[in-house]
Amino acid sequence: MAKNKIVVGCQWGDEGKGKVVDLLAEKADIIARFQGGANAGHTILVGDKKYILHLIPSGIIHRGKICYIGNGVVVDPFGLIEELELLRKEGIDTGDRLFISSAANLVMPYHKLIDSLQESKRGNDGIGTTLRGIGPAYRDKVGRFGIRLCDLYAPDKLREKLDMYRKTRSDIFSGTDDERADMGKIYSDLLEIAPILKSRMVNVSIELAKHHKDGKSILFEGAQGAMLDVDLGTYPYATSSNTTVGGALTGLGIGPKMLDEVVGVVKAYTTRVGAGPFPTELFDDAGEKLRETGGEYGATTGRPRRTGWLDLVALRHACRINGVDKIAVTKLDVLDGMEKIKICIGYTLDGREINEVPLDLSDLWHVKPIYREFDGWMTSTTEINDFNALPEKARNYLGFITEDLGVDICLISTGARREETIVM
Ligand code: GDP
Ligand code: IMO
Ligand code: MG
Repeated sequence: MAKNKIVVGCQWGDEGKGKVVDLLAEKADIIARFQGGANAGHTILVGDKKYILHLIPSGIIHRGKICYIGNGVVVDPFGLIEELELLRKEGIDTGDRLFISSAANLVMPYHKLIDSLQESKRGNDGIGTTLRGIGPAYRDKVGRFGIRLCDLYAPDKLREKLDMYRKTRSDIFSGTDDERADMGKIYSDLLEIAPILKSRMVNVSIELAKHHKDGKSILFEGAQGAMLDVDLGTYPYATSSNTTVGGALTGLGIGPKMLDEVVGVVKAYTTRVGAGPFPTELFDDAGEKLRETGGEYGATTGRPRRTGWLDLVALRHACRINGVDKIAVTKLDVLDGMEKIKICIGYTLDGREINEVPLDLSDLWHVKPIYREFDGWMTSTTEINDFNALPEKARNYLGFITEDLGVDICLISTGARREETIVM
């Protein structure tokens, strides 16, 4: 029986999870997203066609695969419909194979308004969120003010909830004439789209349990990355969900035994979007070269991504908190033209050497990376599909990483396209 794999990001997001999920989806029957929302931007390149998915699992591109959005995802219902429409225009039919948990909390237009108001109030201390309303939606979920997908089908109660919300958050809403706080409009817009989503609403936990019992193979798709986890990432410069394996259990209503293998996606260098500490960040030509060669601009917001060298301290943390079994290394090709490549093997803090990520940011802001320098291989890896055909210097670079992390590589990506991949 095929293994159930879970794909999680090991850095600050944008590791290439979309490509990895798309590849692994070929051998899976079911693909399920468990957390995050439309803050995610997962890119899949098939031939010359580029798909950027925010809410819908990356497995959807494979015709016939069944996809689920779990209760742990905060769903922007209007955004979801747009995404479905985009896929339909591309000839990808999702009618009988994309389902959403009835218990998923919805991202409301006012959550996006609150997100931007909060960010502007924070001024220079802003988190640099994607402004997709993620933090406010999760806050309402935990605060028990959330509106869930199932609520769309009880209109009277829905209206009451919206009005009650506006009353309780008068601190934000009083005096604003922003359309995103207009509860009457939100109510009627929601009722308009409710019928479109109704046939897709299911109990994802029950469905997955059935598929599992029937011997189907399930692929779990994480969003963001370990260092953005709300508990174990660089809080408060994090997202508002558990981006690590635990998030899959609560975000889908499954037990841990349903997960057979944890695949951590590791970009061959590091990027980060938004604010927060980034010990190996580069501010020089090498950083610029990584950004330009790697096309490091946000898939969701278009913002330039901050770039830096690979950070093994952060990766050790990611592997431990996720129980990573194997890593998928992406964007190796972006290093092809780098004469020198560095890997951070430890930090110093006030002259002391440390090998783990301090959870207290007042320390993490001040750590200095200790680097091991490698000679670059200075030749293209993009056409290579066999590990042994990689330049020796590239193999050494990868070997150094796997030895340190104590995990094997399952896949190496040397370009954005499906075929630009080495399967191990
Ligand atoms: P995700 O959020 O983890 O799915 O990653 P993103 O889609 O936000 O960002 C990854 C970007 O790198 C996308 O533009 C991908 O098409 C691209 N990409 C993925 N793998 C590779 C690779 O191995 N090499 C190169 N050059 N690009 C890649
Ligand atoms: P994928 O799934 C990279 C970052 C934002 C910001 C912080 C909080 O494509 O890897 P939020 O909008 O979630 O409240 O923003 O988290 N962030 C991401 N960075 N990739 C993502 O998703 C991200 N989702 C959120 O830039 O720093
Ligand atoms: Mg992304």
